[in-house]
Amino acid sequence: MTTSFRPDALIAQDIDAYLAQHQRKTLLRFITCGSVDDGKSTLIGRLLYDSRMIFDDQLAALEADSKRVGTQGQEIDFALLVDGLAAEREQGITIDVAYRFFATEKRKFIVADTPGHEQYTRNMVTGASTADLAVILIDARKGVLTQTRRHSYLAHLIGIRHVVLAVNKMDLVGYDQAIYDAIVADYAAFAKSIGIAAFTPIPISGFKGDNVTAPSSNTPWYAGPSLIEHLETIELDADTDRAKPFRMAVQWVSRPNIDFRGFAGTIAAGTIAPGNAVRVLPSGKTSTVARIVTFDGDLDIAVAGQSVTLTLADEIDCSRGDVIAIADASPQVADQFEATIVWMADDALLPGRGYWLKLGTQTVTAQVHAPKYQVNVNTLEQVAAKTLDLNAIGVANLVTDKPIVFEPYADSRELGGFILIDKLTNATVAAGMLHFALRRARDVHWQSVDVTRAAHAQQKGQEPKVLWFTGLSGSGKSTIANLVEKKLFALGRHSYLLDGDNVRHGLNKDLGFNDADRIENIRRVGEVAKLMTDAGLIVLTAFISPFRAERELVRAMLPAGDFVEIFVDTPLAVAEARDVKGLYKKARTGEIANFTGISSPYEAPERPDIRVDTTAETPEAAAERIVEHIMGVWSPDL
Ligand code: ADX
Repeated sequence: MTTSFRPDALIAQDIDAYLAQHQRKTLLRFITCGSVDDGKSTLIGRLLYDSRMIFDDQLAALEADSKRVGTQGQEIDFALLVDGLAAEREQGITIDVAYRFFATEKRKFIVADTPGHEQYTRNMVTGASTADLAVILIDARKGVLTQTRRHSYLAHLIGIRHVVLAVNKMDLVGYDQAIYDAIVADYAAFAKSIGIAAFTPIPISGFKGDNVTAPSSNTPWYAGPSLIEHLETIELDADTDRAKPFRMAVQWVSRPNIDFRGFAGTIAAGTIAPGNAVRVLPSGKTSTVARIVTFDGDLDIAVAGQSVTLTLADEIDCSRGDVIAIADASPQVADQFEATIVWMADDALLPGRGYWLKLGTQTVTAQVHAPKYQVNVNTLEQVAAKTLDLNAIGVANLVTDKPIVFEPYADSRELGGFILIDKLTNATVAAGMLHFALRRARDVHWQSVDVTRAAHAQQKGQEPKVLWFTGLSGSGKSTIANLVEKKLFALGRHSYLLDGDNVRHGLNKDLGFNDADRIENIRRVGEVAKLMTDAGLIVLTAFISPFRAERELVRAMLPAGDFVEIFVDTPLAVAEARDVKGLYKKARTGEIANFTGISSPYEAPERPDIRVDTTAETPEAAAERIVEHIMGVWSPDL
């Protein structure tokens, strides 16, 4: 474990030599769980010091890099270092996880060190997401604590297969075997209760160095390996993954010339060789592998962890986001799932809102239902929850707008782990683990109809559109929409006006005015408007629709250009002064809760297709202008 050079003496040539020498070593990623009191920093310091291979300069460079991405203090943008949850980097999220590197003669190590403060869940889940192993630190004087249970639960949840129970500070309990045995027995009972099948207990002293890098004579009763020895010899996830059926998510399609079409990606599991029959998902088309192309020439075989480009014997459709799998054991395709979700954002989960779901190279829109329950990470009890707040862990069903290729997280981190991204802020708001599909998407077919959308539209001689009026209560949405519809009617157009007050008496009479209900209100209205445009109609909607995300959701449901956002821009003071329905008065006295503009937000459109300033334009003039706008964008032959 000794080396001939010290980090501070490194020159470029040394680094090259070092990298060449260590490149062939396997890499173990692990996480340390515990608090300062447990002696975590001391232990990490000792591991780094005893291995004598810290790249201080390298670390400093990475920290500098990270600062450009992150925002606060000592954070390292782990995505610069490790590839797990790679999307995080693009999202610019800052997480308190410090990654440190060291190496011994047998292996290289990356240790993720997460501070134990109140944001522990988010940090630990992030740090653990790529780890093969977790070192759970226990203070021998204190034994198994609530935080030990919490850390173990999280490590198990995130799919870490190897757990080391490092019973630390043995020097402070006189290296007493009875104390050690009692702690191990205590932990064993707990571990079993949460499904951790096996763990490796080691009595250590981070401070004195016992059993850290070498067996200690102070614990003659302990016959197992030292911590480093254990870390050097456990089987890596990558090796386990090799034995599984082949899967590779397509990162990009490489098409340098018309004779070559290759599918590039990192092999998530299994091995592949030319001649193997493969299936491309979600389409299900099959072919055989023709070549495995790499930078250094073609390969006869490639294994999990390698980045390669595959060419196929047949010209079949395959693009970024697709998964190439071995033909006779391919993953499932579905659009409804049960999942565990770890909420990582300050703003709580909004059930029903559309978030981007990124799973490997696939990106779809997903809506999360209200949680079935939330887990109290300290007691591990399941408690009822309507939403998930920062650091909450819950189980919920979710629906994606397109089928995705997946495997249960327990079988595959790559095809079962996902993140959720807020569509407007682009921030990563959650990490999740798929359990199982609720129903296979391939069994659900759209009823194909012979009288198509185009046929309906043609019969009516018009282009269907959704004229989406948004604005405060009392801003004049219904008034203007009404005038527009009358004008369209007079012009012989076929239309229908969906109005907030009316729809809320029927279809949506089960909905109130909290955020979740408003989201559901708009989602349903969007779906109805979409069906009506399928029927060839021009649909006018007059809903406050206070949230940008849902207005964008409806826009995304419709063919490009069919959604016309009309912002009826009446300042709050003006709408309140008019108070046509007397609701503002009631809202001010608190008689009505969650009133838009007063006790509930309104997110004004940033770039509406049409803006009506009702303080400067009469409803009649506005309606005229809107009709002209629509007629203007209609094709002349209609
Ligand atoms: S939305 O926010 O979900 O889009 P929607 O347009 O359907 O609202 O309904 C708004 C109408 O409901 C208002 O014009 C008003 O008449 C009535 N209303 C009753 N309570 C509220 C409230 N708390 N906030 C806003 N509007 C309310």
